[in-house]
Amino acid sequence: MFNKRVKVKDLLASNDTEREVTVMGWVRTFRNNQFIALNDGSTNNNLQVVVELGLLDETTLKRITTGASLKVTGTVVVSLGKGQRVEVKASSLEILGDCDAEKFPLQPKKHSLEFLREIAHLRFRTNTFGSVFRLRHSLAFATHKFFNDKGFVYLHTPIITASDAEGAGEMFRVTTLPFDAPPKNEDGTINFKEDFFGKSTNLTVSGQLEGELGAMAFSEIYTFGPTFRAENSNTTRHLAEFWMIEPEMAFYDIEDNMNLAEEFIRYLIQYAIDHNRDDIEFLDQRLAEEERQKPQAERSEFGLIEKLEFIIQNKFERITYTDAINILLESPAYKKKKFKYEVKWGIDLQSEHERYLVEKHFKKPVIVTGYPKDIKSFYMRLNDDGKTVAAMDILAPGIGEIVGGSQREERLESLEKRMREMHIPSDEMSYYLDTRRFGTVPHAGFGLGFERMVQFVTGMTNIRDVIPFARTPKNCEF
Ligand code: 4AD
Ligand code: MG
Repeated sequence: MFNKRVKVKDLLASNDTEREVTVMGWVRTFRNNQFIALNDGSTNNNLQVVVELGLLDETTLKRITTGASLKVTGTVVVSLGKGQRVEVKASSLEILGDCDAEKFPLQPKKHSLEFLREIAHLRFRTNTFGSVFRLRHSLAFATHKFFNDKGFVYLHTPIITASDAEGAGEMFRVTTLPFDAPPKNEDGTINFKEDFFGKSTNLTVSGQLEGELGAMAFSEIYTFGPTFRAENSNTTRHLAEFWMIEPEMAFYDIEDNMNLAEEFIRYLIQYAIDHNRDDIEFLDQRLAEEERQKPQAERSEFGLIEKLEFIIQNKFERITYTDAINILLESPAYKKKKFKYEVKWGIDLQSEHERYLVEKHFKKPVIVTGYPKDIKSFYMRLNDDGKTVAAMDILAPGIGEIVGGSQREERLESLEKRMREMHIPSDEMSYYLDTRRFGTVPHAGFGLGFERMVQFVTGMTNIRDVIPFARTPKNCEF
């Protein structure tokens, strides 16, 4: 029977000694033919298992190597050694799986994140990735708790769609047509009528449009699922497959939307601090060490925990896009020609501009609203000035854009006009326009990039290190 085992985390937290337990896990280290550091992934803290001399024969002792998996039964005793309160004195030990120490790539020493990315199937067994992925789990769980407690309905929006929700044309096509000889129309174009769905389809870039349909009945919904973008961005903040949380709320305006997004981000951070203190402390240390390797001028002023506590305690700055442009134009960075990209009203803010606003000027998260309509999606509500839309982006220190959202255009005529101007095919989207025909209401929503949030909470600089198996341009291992 395997399920009678005690988890290491629970065992270490309990004062209940002199009882018999069975523990299972993987060997991190084995010292002096006597002390095993055993880890089962429930915590970074290893359980010390003491093998008394004479309990095991030579051959078995030799098989206790880093990476091997064990089943140990023994007595919980107060530890005489330093570093742990309790340990297990083994009365029997079984090797479940051997691990050839010569071939096992994880040695009990520090490995670079780059190296670990190449062995992503094994990196879960390191302290850094143990902490990162336990935190990722907690943040996912907290997301459901946050919205469930508020009465939002979790709506599963489709992965395969025929629409381009963002209108940016960055989609992965889904097809069963043969590549060598696809069926053609008379004009030589591919005949998608013969494709699996009878039309051209792709992986979704966002669940928002379907989310809006749900909000028009349940009032408040959220989606939380994978989204896909074929943008050729090889950066530390972009993935081709990433997870997004998209709440969509009827009877919300842009301000309600900002309030909800801000409350949600704070909630996630607080949840992580309350439930994963050990992991955050570990990552705080890890980051401090990483920072020490950098030249003084590039080091961040805050430690990870300090940063997270600061976010919880301070309201986000709220400015308009026009304010943002003016701040940039008046900045020393602009005057000293430090920006690579042009600054003027109408530009899409580049990451250097976002970083200046957040990290240099305000030194806290900033919500930017009122973007020019021409750089934003077709569904955003046109403001009375006729030039800007009720969009909102939340920019976070070290991350840049973490949330993108807006109040939606609920007026049928304005929406149709915008779709024509932006060449969005409205005949295929008539289901979407129906919500504006049949009892339309003011509504709003946003998308939080889950991996960027995990980066923020864990302090990991590269987005590839906060998703189990990253999909990026020219890379689809595992
Ligand atoms: O700003 P975006 O493109 O907004 C939308 O997709 C809207 N439909 C959301 C909504 O209003 N319901 O993306 C939202 C967020 C970004 O702010 C960013 O955090 C994340 O998704 N994101 C990415 N994360 C990782 N890799 C990428 N390639 C990402 N693209 C966007
Ligand atoms: Mg965006």
